[in-house]
Amino acid sequence: MKKQICLNGFIQNFPSPHSTGLWKHEKSKGHEHNRLSYWVETAQLLEKGKFDAMFIADVLGTYSVYKNSYHPAVEKAVQFPAHDPLLSISAMALTTKNLGFAVTISTTYSHPYTLARQLSTLDHLTEGRIGWNIVTSYLESEAANLGLSGRPTHEARYGRADEFLEVVYKLWEHSWDDNAILFDKDNDRFVDATKVHEIKHRGKYYSVTGPHLVEPSPQRTPVLFQAGSSPRGRKFAAKHAEAVFTKHTSLASLRAYAKDIHRLTRAHGRNPNDIKIFPLILPIIGSTEEEAHRNYEELKKYVSYEGTLSLLSGHTGIDYSTFDPDVYITEMETEAMQGNLDLYAKDPTKKWTLREAILNHGLGNGAVKFIGTPEQIAEKMELWATEGDVDGFNIAQVYSPGTFYEFVNHVVPELQKRGIYRTEYEGATLRENLFGKGRVHLPINHPGKQFSILQTNK
Ligand SMILES: Cc1cc2nc3c(=O)[nH]c(=O)nc-3n(C[C@H](O)[C@H](O)[C@H](O)COP(=O)(O)O)c2cc1C
Repeated sequence: MKKQICLNGFIQNFPSPHSTGLWKHEKSKGHEHNRLSYWVETAQLLEKGKFDAMFIADVLGTYSVYKNSYHPAVEKAVQFPAHDPLLSISAMALTTKNLGFAVTISTTYSHPYTLARQLSTLDHLTEGRIGWNIVTSYLESEAANLGLSGRPTHEARYGRADEFLEVVYKLWEHSWDDNAILFDKDNDRFVDATKVHEIKHRGKYYSVTGPHLVEPSPQRTPVLFQAGSSPRGRKFAAKHAEAVFTKHTSLASLRAYAKDIHRLTRAHGRNPNDIKIFPLILPIIGSTEEEAHRNYEELKKYVSYEGTLSLLSGHTGIDYSTFDPDVYITEMETEAMQGNLDLYAKDPTKKWTLREAILNHGLGNGAVKFIGTPEQIAEKMELWATEGDVDGFNIAQVYSPGTFYEFVNHVVPELQKRGIYRTEYEGATLRENLFGKGRVHLPINHPGKQFSILQTNK
């Protein structure tokens, strides 16, 4: 059997996900992101395409590194207006059966006790289709809004995130025994209280007594996604993640990344197959190769150059307003998103000028472009999956949800014809669809399983 791939649809609750300025395109319905009908339509479309999950990105502040001002990003609708990512999920779950929802929540700016409750509730309501994209956040403006004096360093953010995960594992995996709900009308006992445990977590950042407020949901722990690519981010992913999102402009850098993630995963005593790797791609489709390239040239005209400068400045933490557009982007360390800087500074196949990087970043948030006929795009996906040693793709959009329409109607059938993509969902929960029927919960070698009730109740 050929290697099978999985797919996620990349979206965010703002008018132009994820192509800066493309809200102006006649095919864009992104400005309807404030309506449930937009979300339901998009979810049903992804389910028609047998996607594993909708991946909903999120940030908690404006992009204000560029020119030291939020005005350019706000004017150009750069991840703004930014509505909440969680609240449309119930409606989408009611109108779909199999699609998963991987939602972004920051460990730096939320609290593990309330996050555990929210995601357990949603895992119940979706009947086991929730994933959590664990982010540590990168914008200074987020810190300014959420009570911190500044953005913590990578080391501090990931240190806090490690403890955050420890708390939620205790709540999700160990606070409740499986058979605690009695629903015993005769004896007036809904729950067996001896089977609901406090966690008594006392750590450097959090003090949480418990018990967890929600009874075990179908998956207990939601599927854990992560997308950090700094050295510290990769270590965190190797320890906790079940799937990682990543961005690469070349197959060579993707292959090197996958090798590194697999090496780190082994070092954490886990099986490399326990982490699915999803590079971000942007499909640009035509009925001929020439037409696809013409479409690409046309789409570039909609990109907001200044909006993308503010996006890339926010992603990298570098204010590009004073840079010559024809200078090359060079390697350096950043406390913002290392991966987005490395995308252009460390590409083994090409040196990127700022201007080139901006034009690339404006369409699909820096995703690599797969341009061609549906057959050519499917062929390239198969090549990247096998030669890059990855498990599937995260599909970005030029106009939302139009790119998903084109992809589902034209590329998905080609993937199925090649025998590398499902024609039916395998399981009922998100984890089962990603890892195979029967794998509803975290595997036994995952760190989330290590906090036994005896340890936590000491
Ligand atoms: C495809 C992709 C999507 C991401 N989505 C988000 C997001 O929605 N919100 C966020 O705060 N960070 C997001 N990130 C950033 C990371 O998860 C991470 O917090 C950030 O990269 C900083 O860590 P790093 O320097 O270790 O990469 C994303 C990264 C990638 C590659």
